[in-house]
Amino acid sequence: MTSELIRSARDLRNNHREAEGRDNMVHNPWRNDFPILKNNDIAYLDSAASAQKPQTVIDAMTDVMKHHYSNIHRGLYNFSQVTTKEFEAARKTVASFIGAASEREIIFTRNATEAINLVVQSWGRMYLAQGDEVILTEMEHHANIVPWQILRDQIGIVIKVIPVQEDGTLDLDRFEALLSPQTKFVSLVHVSNALGTINNVKKIIGIAKDFYPEIKVMIDGSQAVVHRAVNMKELGCDFYALTGHKLYGPTGIGVLWGKYDILESMPPYQGGGDMIEKVSFDYTTYKEPPARFEAGTPAIIEAIGLGAALEYINNIGMAAIEAHETVLLDYANKALAKVEGLRFYGTAPEKVGILSFTADWGHASDIGMILDQCGVAVRTGHHCCQPLMQHFGIDGTIRASLGLYSNQQDIDALVAGLGKAKGLLG
Ligand code: ALA
Repeated sequence: MTSELIRSARDLRNNHREAEGRDNMVHNPWRNDFPILKNNDIAYLDSAASAQKPQTVIDAMTDVMKHHYSNIHRGLYNFSQVTTKEFEAARKTVASFIGAASEREIIFTRNATEAINLVVQSWGRMYLAQGDEVILTEMEHHANIVPWQILRDQIGIVIKVIPVQEDGTLDLDRFEALLSPQTKFVSLVHVSNALGTINNVKKIIGIAKDFYPEIKVMIDGSQAVVHRAVNMKELGCDFYALTGHKLYGPTGIGVLWGKYDILESMPPYQGGGDMIEKVSFDYTTYKEPPARFEAGTPAIIEAIGLGAALEYINNIGMAAIEAHETVLLDYANKALAKVEGLRFYGTAPEKVGILSFTADWGHASDIGMILDQCGVAVRTGHHCCQPLMQHFGIDGTIRASLGLYSNQQDIDALVAGLGKAKGLLG
């Protein structure tokens, strides 16, 4: 049954391609850099959940383990010196990738979730008090909602929410109306993982800072840095969070960027080795940032892998990635528009390659399972954005998300798989 389904979906895909007269598909020069895509006949359209890894990242990580792995910042011997150098070089690469003023502003975390929790529990617990207001948006990932709710339960802050409009953009008039003398913090996503909307964060930061310059702004850039160049010196926010595994790097490594003077004013988030200057049972003193926020042995191999991923992206150039994805998103929009009964969520003029939709002929999870049988990997469900789904009155969508390796065949496979699913469920 499974192989039959896959076979017939592939036949459909090939027929579709011929009917459209697109034998000369746009060549993707980077796809072969990803061994998993060379070794498997899969239309991988779940890069927003986690991206595949190029050979250069795999090599950078295995090289450490094969040739000089050791702990860092602690050993006088050669392995430790070399590994420390590579780890700190990765920090510099991250700093330059996001246009930070200095690598001292780069804190390695486990992921973007941990970066946000760090800010909430360190800056938030230090500088917020009962009744202070934090503004979020209706399109936040749970990672930028739940930490604030935990803080609300701890100290009594008030959470306000900027609503989403029908096309998946934010209602900025409502944002301005939400600002008050109690507003202390604005925290929002740069690019929505569920809709693909690119929020005009520069404008939002400007509105907040014009209202009161002391309002702090944190941006969750997990989905943005994959698709667009960002520059901390130009953006004007105070904190920026991102994760490595969506950036073609490994899991277990994320980044918190913060303005250095703000980081300096913050207490540690976790205590442990490598973040202290002096420890006694009476008192402990802490290192300066970033070390203050990197307690314990960090994700050494993963940080080096992230550095390699960013070098890989730099070599291609973000402008080339953006241009490729823009063409492919247009192709995908046109191809999916021909599938009957789909409803799309997130149709903002400024968006990345994330297509979220439901079908009036089948439930998202049933469709997702059939697509899997057809060799198409998409995410279905609420995408860790339950409040956003509640806004649209749905329990989830089918989400196809593009990466730099995505190509037209992937989209054709999705369209063919949806045709198959419609035949079975409709
Ligand atoms: N946040 C990830 C996603 O959007 C896991 O799928």
